[in-house]
Amino acid sequence: MLMRFTEEQLMIRDMVREFTEKEVAPRDKWMDENGFDRALYDRLCTTGLTGVHFPEEYGGAGCDAVTSTIVIHELSKGSASLALALDISWVASDMILHHGTQTQKDKYLPLAAEGKIFAFGLTEASAGSDAARIQTTAVKDADGWWVLNGGKSWITNSGVADYYILMAITDRSKGAKGISAFIVPKETEGLIIGKHEEKMGMRGSSTCELSFDAMRLPPDALLSSEGMGFKIAMQGLDGGRISVAAISCGLAEHAFELAKAYANERITFGKPIAKHQAIQFKFADMATDLTAMQMMTYNAAEVKASGKRHTLEAAEAKLFCSTRCTQICLECLQIHGGNGYSKEFDVERFVRDSKLLEIGEGTSEILRMVIGGTVLGK
Ligand code: CAA
Repeated sequence: MLMRFTEEQLMIRDMVREFTEKEVAPRDKWMDENGFDRALYDRLCTTGLTGVHFPEEYGGAGCDAVTSTIVIHELSKGSASLALALDISWVASDMILHHGTQTQKDKYLPLAAEGKIFAFGLTEASAGSDAARIQTTAVKDADGWWVLNGGKSWITNSGVADYYILMAITDRSKGAKGISAFIVPKETEGLIIGKHEEKMGMRGSSTCELSFDAMRLPPDALLSSEGMGFKIAMQGLDGGRISVAAISCGLAEHAFELAKAYANERITFGKPIAKHQAIQFKFADMATDLTAMQMMTYNAAEVKASGKRHTLEAAEAKLFCSTRCTQICLECLQIHGGNGYSKEFDVERFVRDSKLLEIGEGTSEILRMVIGGTVLGK
């Protein structure tokens, strides 16, 4: 694939590749069995990659959205779970980058760049796809502090995050425009980490329920201004969806490489299965899909890097890449035959991991609503 990456981007890509091969890929099975690997995440932080796209004045490397997409793409070739944890941390901390006051940026962005983990709380038990229907409330008390009551579900990085960006209703009469965003440190009194989700895949990223029991936040915990929470969340998800597309590429490429090695090694009817046309055609279709997936992902990242709104490109990339990723992982399992169905081989884990990419950060059905609404000039 011909991508016009800069010298700096190529250097970063090679560095992530090396880190992924040496450190990340060997830990993915362990994470599937044991959950989030904090020690590995800490090693990732020492590379400086967690701050790659934050401005230099906040301790970052000052790179653009194409570069951060390269980081997520390369990491996910070793572990989709780890890449997802970083993706969500960036979705949440970028909300401060794009909407925070100068004081909030000065306080939180250096922490994000150095690798403190952020989480983003929008989804609730009764409000997933219909995100504007959240029930968590934030009410101002006599001292001007905010008091939050309610809860969140399916929050990636919860339980391991240092900071949460939480959405709550501050004015129910205004619908989506009555939702506000708050910055919440993990030690805040009233923040309760609940049930850990036993997920089918992506088990190396932590997912819990949260509840808020009269959780008091100071006035400066409000991000941007009252009523901006829904737009902040939607803009954040536009960026996150590019990362999910990149994870889909990386995970599918990982499955493809393992299937290729297996197909060249496994003999049936006197020759490697890679020499059978039935198998070759599978690789032809997968390789074609992978090229299209990479182009859509980096196209969306380029649009984001140019500073333009990228809602459509991000939704299209996520829809296409996540759907194709699941199909590629299934096809790679099929190429492995019975071995593919065994936990001794990695590909069954990739099938389980892939399905989340079609659900998290906007289901394929929601993305079709976003794309359809946009192209038909809603
Ligand atoms: N950028 C900026 N503004 C946006 C926007 C975007 N991408 N999308 C919507 N808005 C604005 C609209 O312009 C509108 O503002 P105005 O009234 O001023 O024009 C306002 O937000 C409301 O928009 P809609 O009328 O389109 O809102 P809606 O209620 O019809 O919902 C939706 C739209 C696209 C379906 C939205 O609800 C949605 O994206 N749902 C899916 C949510 C989702 O992806 N959840 C996953 C979260 S990830 C998670 O929680 C788990 C995790 O950690 C991974």
